[in-house]
Amino acid sequence: MGNYHGRDASAARLLTGSHYDTVRNGGKYDGRLGIFVPMACVRELSRQGKRLPYGIEVVAFAEEEGQRYKATFLGSGALTGHFDNAWLDQLDTQGISMRDAMKHAGLCIDDIPKLQRDPARYLGFVEVHIEQGPVLNGQDMPLGIVTSINGSVRYVGEIVGMASHAGTTPMDMRRDAAAAAAELTLYVEQRAASVPDLVGTVGMLEVPNGSINVVPGRCRFSLDIRATTNEVRDACAADVLAELKRICQRRGLHHTLEETMRAAAAPSAPAWQQRWENAVQALGLPLLRMPSGAGHDAMKLHEIMPQAMLFLRGLNAGISHNPLESITNDDAELCVRAFQHLLDQLTSEAS
Ligand code: GLV
Ligand code: MN
Ligand code: MN
Repeated sequence: MGNYHGRDASAARLLTGSHYDTVRNGGKYDGRLGIFVPMACVRELSRQGKRLPYGIEVVAFAEEEGQRYKATFLGSGALTGHFDNAWLDQLDTQGISMRDAMKHAGLCIDDIPKLQRDPARYLGFVEVHIEQGPVLNGQDMPLGIVTSINGSVRYVGEIVGMASHAGTTPMDMRRDAAAAAAELTLYVEQRAASVPDLVGTVGMLEVPNGSINVVPGRCRFSLDIRATTNEVRDACAADVLAELKRICQRRGLHHTLEETMRAAAAPSAPAWQQRWENAVQALGLPLLRMPSGAGHDAMKLHEIMPQAMLFLRGLNAGISHNPLESITNDDAELCVRAFQHLLDQLTSEAS
């Protein structure tokens, strides 16, 4: 965290930033762009020896993605006071607890509650992020205005059947856990595709100790469902869970399911969205308003203060969570200019 004090060191602050962790085999910009853009603006203010009527607090959040443990938004969750201490006992795939991993990284667990921010001391939260999708690139537009962040829910589960000989077990006598997971995956695909702006993904599928000649006795899976409204997300989740039960009953299988994350849809605060729109228009660029399909730290800050996001187009059809993720320097500069414009607006509003 870095703080660039306002003229008066006790002045309310603009909170901004994004995450520095990423997914396995991810790209370079998901998250980090939103840390570097405000840093570039602060560096310029400092170079000019200019102080504003408000402070700027830039935060680099840890573990937004939820890769190592069944917990997301660890950094931004700590700022909103929603860091769940029960997470500390979770084990990763190597059997290392989150508590030990944090200690090993030199972090002080007892300090986590001290990270909680008092919203009264902040003007609001803004986050710059790559779009992570094809829309801006497809329309040849560098910047996009986020209208809301989709609500999401995640589960991890396991289907349990009976491992048996692949050569001798007749097809009508199998209790194949992987075939059931495959059926569920196809249902998720078809159910999510039937409603606009609803997406459902089975991103992890694993047959523990699977063998080429063994009918899968167990299959672990993940489930990630997102939509522009919590209601659409929840209706899909309810249908998928009911289908999981039906599939398991029909095939004579058992299952376990654990909800690992739930984040409410986060509409942008109108006044903050308007500031981004003013900034984009001041750069002479057309406005494109869009919901965010990806989750962001802004969803957590949304719980305690107004927030709005600015998107930057990605190259290679906007691909993200992939090393092919890319942007141009010119587009990054437009982000910095838009951010500077937002700072200028806040300055004029304060005077
Ligand atoms: C984070 O990138 C997410 O949306 O899963
Ligand atoms: Mn990501
Ligand atoms: Mn991200």
